[in-house]
Amino acid sequence: MTAVPDPAANAAEVILAYHQRTRHRLERYAAGPETLDWSEQPNPFREFAGAPRVLLPLAADEVATPFSEIYAGRVAAPAPLDLSSVGVLLQLSLALAAWKEYGPDRWALRCTPSSGNLHPTEAYVVSRGVEGLEDGVYHYVSRDHSLERRCGVSDKIAAAAPGMWIGLTSIHWREAWKYGERAFRYCQLDVGHAIGALRYAAGVLGWTARMAEAATSRDIAGLLGLDRDADFPGGAEREAPDLLLRILPEPIAASLGEAGHGLSIESLGGWVGEANLLDRRKMYKWPVIDEASAATRKTRSVAEPRYRGNFPPIGLGSSERAASVILNRRSAQGFDRRGRMGSGAFYHMIDRLLARNVAPWDVWTYVPRIHPVFFIHRVDGLEPGLYILLRNPDVEMRLRQATRNDLLWQRPEHVPPQLDFYRLVAADCTKVARVLHCHQAIASDSCFALGMIAEFEPLVRAEPWRYKQLHWEAGLLGHVLYLEAETLGFRGTGIGCYFDESMHEILGLEDASFASLYHFTVGVAPVDTRITTLPPYGDRALPQTEAQHPEPDSGKSTKGSSGMAEQATFERVGVDFARELMKSGEALVLDMRDPGSYESGHIEGAEHVTEANIFNFLSGTPKTTPVLIYCYHGNASQVYAQTFADFRFTKVYSLDGGYEGWKQAGA
Ligand SMILES: Cc1cc2nc3c(=O)[nH]c(=O)nc-3n(C[C@H](O)[C@H](O)[C@H](O)COP(=O)(O)O)c2cc1C
Repeated sequence: MTAVPDPAANAAEVILAYHQRTRHRLERYAAGPETLDWSEQPNPFREFAGAPRVLLPLAADEVATPFSEIYAGRVAAPAPLDLSSVGVLLQLSLALAAWKEYGPDRWALRCTPSSGNLHPTEAYVVSRGVEGLEDGVYHYVSRDHSLERRCGVSDKIAAAAPGMWIGLTSIHWREAWKYGERAFRYCQLDVGHAIGALRYAAGVLGWTARMAEAATSRDIAGLLGLDRDADFPGGAEREAPDLLLRILPEPIAASLGEAGHGLSIESLGGWVGEANLLDRRKMYKWPVIDEASAATRKTRSVAEPRYRGNFPPIGLGSSERAASVILNRRSAQGFDRRGRMGSGAFYHMIDRLLARNVAPWDVWTYVPRIHPVFFIHRVDGLEPGLYILLRNPDVEMRLRQATRNDLLWQRPEHVPPQLDFYRLVAADCTKVARVLHCHQAIASDSCFALGMIAEFEPLVRAEPWRYKQLHWEAGLLGHVLYLEAETLGFRGTGIGCYFDESMHEILGLEDASFASLYHFTVGVAPVDTRITTLPPYGDRALPQTEAQHPEPDSGKSTKGSSGMAEQATFERVGVDFARELMKSGEALVLDMRDPGSYESGHIEGAEHVTEANIFNFLSGTPKTTPVLIYCYHGNASQVYAQTFADFRFTKVYSLDGGYEGWKQAGA
């Protein structure tokens, strides 16, 4: 009798072999293209020709929710489930955050980071009973913040309870074009960031979001029309189904165990629209990506017990307006080596990585399986060295057994009790960190870098789709770090380029029971004033280009730098300078905090500036007028200051320390 092949076992072999062959090693990088022609970059914007469009409102500016309230889940009243709220949800998660210009090049940045700024993740909205939006399945076009209606739904669905879902898919080629075989991993990390971005954006509205666990890959492909060959004509790149999120217009999900997606796919109506071709001339083929994708399709839903810690958070979090934190998130392109982080800020930041029943981890219906290992360089009160945070105490014995036996496992002094945080090695690890991260200085000049160690092979062997899930969890951790770093006056950068083997050697990991899936770094970032920043939807009709230039991962100097535009700059100034400036009575003083904060107190004579009225100031003020801009702590104001400088204002100042610093100085 011949044995019947077990498809899951085969799939497991395929995906584990994929992971193995796409490890970067000191002596050899994973296979990728040998040459890149940036002018041939795939179009970063998918569109469906013929599908009717709905332009979404850009109303994020009107939402005053402080960042800390997202975690507290106590926004005064949840926003109504209507078109304007859908606009805010997407504007604060997957929309463009700015256009950048450098010399002749122009490229968009989004609220989510993306490896190489290539953005392989596509998003769909499934709506039913959303006021102002006809029921249906929509594709989101971030370039102009609009929805394309791909499909209607039958009366049966329309009659059911109102609801909204977001489907996420990946166009692997967009990422593979630059990164070759390793790209499948990066696509998954990007999906993790998108989950985080959507959960935070839902929180801004007083809503929540939850993984629709019951949806299989097939369900998602059917629901979003990804399986419709005829709609992807002429070689238009296909989209792989990743996941479905259920958006709940309430601050805390009433039924935490709810995993069903609550949709009947059979009830969809006729489809409209044809996908555009993103890359006409594909120079390479990476068949292992298709194999990895097929091996990690989810064929059934698996309910699992949820580990949730029940401990109070460390610190309340930032009172800064959440929308402004989200829209100003950027990756650091370099760090000031003199910058240090206080231990309070550090513990607050890593505390936000613990799985609790509140945002953002309430979106995550799974056991936490990623445990960050830190390279601490410049954190007050912590000796430089290697440290670990266990996000689930159950893993400790297994990790101790799998790692080198000379690791210290010592709790540093004064660690808050809820953190399972241990020192493993005491040593200056700046050089090691730099080499390990493909020689990138952002990993050594920062306050700390980290690698995300996942519980790996047994899990993936049992259920291969979890390979994707582990990367999503890592991306979600990265997203929390990005936003927390922003609120604390620091900046983060995700790191996909690291030597997998070397990280495992540092810890003494000999088999694949654990694997490092994503790295990250946080520090004090100088502002890059060479690059011009333009608003994301300045005229809502930005010219469509076939290809936008991404920021390369290391160094991030853009192509064509020789044709650099005339440098436009602003100055960061202290309270004393600001006081003197205001005495002259000539300066325009602008407060860019949220309306509530402005109302309850502002610098005398300051006017309130928002994204909605900034153009009035830009166009109605003589360019020689000195302009002083302040925010809460002096970070976000630098972005607006740069915009004034870009508009050729000659004396532009950003107030260091912001309004908080001004108040403290008793000015
Ligand atoms: C999965 C992932 C991997 C990344 N890897 C690197 C990296 O190795 N080095 C780096 O400098 N930036 C890296 N980045 C940051 C991206 O370059 C950055 O997100 C992108 O240029 C867009 O800029 P923004 O984050 O400021 O919007 C990574 C980002 C992500 C999400």
